[in-house]
Amino acid sequence: MSATNHQPRYAHIVGWGMYAPPNVLTNEELAKRVDTSDAWIRERTGIVERRIATKETTASMALHAAQDALEIADVNPKQVDLIIVATSTPDYVFPSTACLVQDQLGASSAAAFDLSAACSGFVYGVAVGANMIRAGQYETVLVIGAETFSKIINWKDRGTCILFGDGAGAVLLRGSPEYGGILSAVLGSDGSGGELLEVPAGGSKNPASLETVMANLHTVRMNGREVYRFATRVMVDATKQALQKANISLDELDMLIPHQANARIIDYAAKALNLPPDKVFQNVERYGNTSAASIPIALVEAIQAQRVNPGDHLVMVGFGAGLTWASCAIEWSQPTIKRQITPQRAAQSQLRYRWANLKSFGHRVLRRVDSGVSKVLDRMEGQNNGKGQ
Ligand code: UT7
Repeated sequence: MSATNHQPRYAHIVGWGMYAPPNVLTNEELAKRVDTSDAWIRERTGIVERRIATKETTASMALHAAQDALEIADVNPKQVDLIIVATSTPDYVFPSTACLVQDQLGASSAAAFDLSAACSGFVYGVAVGANMIRAGQYETVLVIGAETFSKIINWKDRGTCILFGDGAGAVLLRGSPEYGGILSAVLGSDGSGGELLEVPAGGSKNPASLETVMANLHTVRMNGREVYRFATRVMVDATKQALQKANISLDELDMLIPHQANARIIDYAAKALNLPPDKVFQNVERYGNTSAASIPIALVEAIQAQRVNPGDHLVMVGFGAGLTWASCAIEWSQPTIKRQITPQRAAQSQLRYRWANLKSFGHRVLRRVDSGVSKVLDRMEGQNNGKGQ
């Protein structure tokens, strides 16, 4: 953590990582479950397959992505000041998924919280983290987008079950006096459209009951057409606004990293912005819509494909339930080639994480022993006091 003087601070992305479950669900397999077809899904969404968690949870995938981001940046988890996990599918209502990640990383100096802004959540998180850094509150912030939408999907609803997938992506933000990094952020919301995309039960208004479960109210409900109309509008506007705030012209934009919801929405935005296909990253065909994880996964794959280089101008832009939207303009500052994790470093880190795990287990045991011993001592003290009276 650092308090700064009046020199401007910039938040740079210095590490990145992603995790996608190995289990693949293809359109053909879906067509055996609901009345749909590979052709329909490809034509209307561009999706060919998605990943579905088996043993993974939101926290375990977030942890994988976070570990890779720290490795790439060569930063010890103890140096992390804040962990933000953007998710709509946390492991629990509480504790937050961010706290689970904090514990498993051994990030003993970090504050941690979850952020709920649906598919826009990752960019919201980047904006919050970057502003914490710019304000001098924190130096090193881990922002993760992680989801297991497969757990809140109605697998009988062909209008939604074809769209979503599971995964996680993460970036590590670090403060620097050097110009660059996250240059602007645009965040928006319109709660009047909340009912267009919702999970009606499981919150405090409609707590879980036999009736809510029987009526499938714990799963995603969506008015696809209306969300589509909203998405095409905000993707274009939010991209332009982020660029304008950062004083970057559309011509200077090198790469758009849009939320991967539907190839048609991405194509529409690209056309409206007059961007050629090589300036727009797309991987929706392989992952479907992974909600808050989609933008960081796309960013990591763009980096891995060597489509992001130092000096490049990027915009990440997303939209989702709420309704919400978010965009940010970035001047990329980090070398992306040769930033591979060596096996030796990976082994060292695994040791560190095992140790963090063991320490966490030790703390739990100690807390239980402490509570048990304290109870016995209190009881003994009570008995002694009773005898003395
Ligand atoms: O992160 C934000 C998440 N949400 C989104 O991004 C969703 C945005 N919306 C969309 O991507 C599109 O609206 C969908 C892909 C969901 C739907 O595509 P569409 O072109 O808007 O289709 P539609 O809802 O207008 O439906 C057209 C037809 C309907 O049949 P009728 O009424 O014309 O006979 C649907 O019942 O397609 C039918 N349909 C399907 N047919 C085969 C809907 N889903 C399917 C399906 N397979 N999976």
